[in-house]
Amino acid sequence: MIPQGFIQDLLARVDLVDVVGRYVQLKKAGQNYLGLCPFHGEKSPSFTVSPSKQFFHCFGCGAHGTAVGFLMEHRGLGFVEAVRELAQQVGMQVPEGPADQAQATGRLKGLAELLQRASDHYRHCLKGSDAAIQYLKGRGLQGATAARFALGFSADEWTGLAAVVDSYDDPQLVEAGLVIANEGKRYDRFRGRVMFPIRNRRGWVIGFGARALDGAEPKYLNSPETPLFHKGRELYGLFEAQEAIRRRRRAIVCEGYLDVIQLAQAGFEESVAALGTAVTSHHVAELLRLTEHVIFAFDGDAAGRKAARRALEAALPVLGDTRRIEFVLLPEGEDPDSLVRLHGADAFAAELGQALPLSRWFIRSLSEGKDLGTAEGRAAMLAEAKPLVSAMPAGALRMQLLNELAGVARSAPAEVENLFGLRPWRRLPEARPSQPRRQPADTADLKQHILQRLLAFPELVDEFDGAIAAEFAEGESALDRQVIEVWRAASSAEGLTCGSLQELLAESDFAAQYREAATRELLAETDADAARLELAGAFAKLELRRLNGELEALAGRQPLDAAALARFRELSERRARLMAGASAHGRGGAAAA
Ligand code: GTP
Ligand code: MN
Repeated sequence: MIPQGFIQDLLARVDLVDVVGRYVQLKKAGQNYLGLCPFHGEKSPSFTVSPSKQFFHCFGCGAHGTAVGFLMEHRGLGFVEAVRELAQQVGMQVPEGPADQAQATGRLKGLAELLQRASDHYRHCLKGSDAAIQYLKGRGLQGATAARFALGFSADEWTGLAAVVDSYDDPQLVEAGLVIANEGKRYDRFRGRVMFPIRNRRGWVIGFGARALDGAEPKYLNSPETPLFHKGRELYGLFEAQEAIRRRRRAIVCEGYLDVIQLAQAGFEESVAALGTAVTSHHVAELLRLTEHVIFAFDGDAAGRKAARRALEAALPVLGDTRRIEFVLLPEGEDPDSLVRLHGADAFAAELGQALPLSRWFIRSLSEGKDLGTAEGRAAMLAEAKPLVSAMPAGALRMQLLNELAGVARSAPAEVENLFGLRPWRRLPEARPSQPRRQPADTADLKQHILQRLLAFPELVDEFDGAIAAEFAEGESALDRQVIEVWRAASSAEGLTCGSLQELLAESDFAAQYREAATRELLAETDADAARLELAGAFAKLELRRLNGELEALAGRQPLDAAALARFRELSERRARLMAGASAHGRGGAAAA
């Protein structure tokens, strides 16, 4: 059996639009893509693929499912074959044989052990290499700094690692990215380079960065992607920096290994770097778990500005209103390493003091190269801003950005919002005490609605933990059990989409109902913010209904003892708050139950 965790990892990396796009010509239509259904002959497209939900549905023939399901149906593959095919497309290795989670973890540990052994070896070699020591000294690094980052050196030998491993033929050496196997020959990947071990949050060595001493090309060589090492997920220096990030309540993100190291030596221990790739949303989210304040400090040249722009794009989707994201663009030709060395720690601190808040950098970056004195320039800026703003969660920060953007574009904020097709940030629909007898929606409808939204937006379940427990945990209907099952599944992993959640629930007794519900959600085209508001509203209604029921039961009880009276008072107050909508800003009202 293929472990569930693997299938979830796989679906997190596969894009259904790519998978389907290999066989079906797709065109963007609103939030979704449309094409001619490959499962039945049709002339006008009714085959719909949702990139955010990672789920497809044909409104002509009813076919629907995830990337796995698509390959099974379209290529006539079995489940395992379809998973293998997908894994191959994204370069993942399907765990072999009767693998289970423990075995998979054991395998990763095996790789990490090898990498650790290599790291120890490289450190040992550094002590014996005058050239490498001179190089590091020449770059101003102290011994203690080298030790903090476990710096090492790979001697210029073809099979240097043979001295420290049990067998140089061990296939794990290749899997770990340490050894290259090529036409029957095997040799060390890293030779004659300063070695920067990359450690994950737990301190396992998961890969290396390696810098040439002389002018050899490439200047930096990194470990390849391995089962342990994913560049889009890991940050260099995070293991070493995490404690300082928490303590100082900020993280500094720069571009290079030596920037991180030099900054740490100069007292900025809260520094990390992306690994020679662009900053990803995953990187930013990881940092935001540790601190609310992230500063990007990039070179002032064209490449640095480009990196800063990518960082901006990566940060927008994961921004909350309480986050503080800032950008420092260093003087042209300087990086944090050279700045600190030439001008000292104070100079860098001064640069940090001049950091641009995200909103300012946003406008500046978008204005670049455009003549905002002309209508054309302003329109071009707005066109460029649209996808960026749309990626942001609704909230106060988005509103502020829209306001600033509107100012620069000489438009009204509402016009810009309209142009971008954004739903205005609505408050919870207020309960209407003046019309208490209005025909309430059926409770079952409300519950079905909640189920559907949770299936479509698994990322929202955490926010409604309390409300789900309060309204569903004790229920015994099939719907109650479904909501609880979906809740459990959706909380069991991070980064789930509607599609990958479907795969997780594929064995459930209710799988068919879940697929049905997910399909209906495709049509709805709700976005996560609207769904959040609707969920909050639905939970508030459910709670109100439950309170009313309890109150009625209490009122009918004779005699009313002290405990019942206290409960009565408590429920009445809660109900009054709910009806007034006072606590009902966003999710708070419903989730606090
Ligand atoms: P130093 O010259 O040692 O100061 O490096 P730097 O960090 O200032 O170099 P640069 O600004 O050129 O590059 C920033 C980061 O990009 C490096 O730390 C590497 O992670 C990555 N990088 C630079 N050059 C290469 C390369 O040739 N190959 C790869 N894979 N990555 C590179
Ligand atoms: Mn540099």
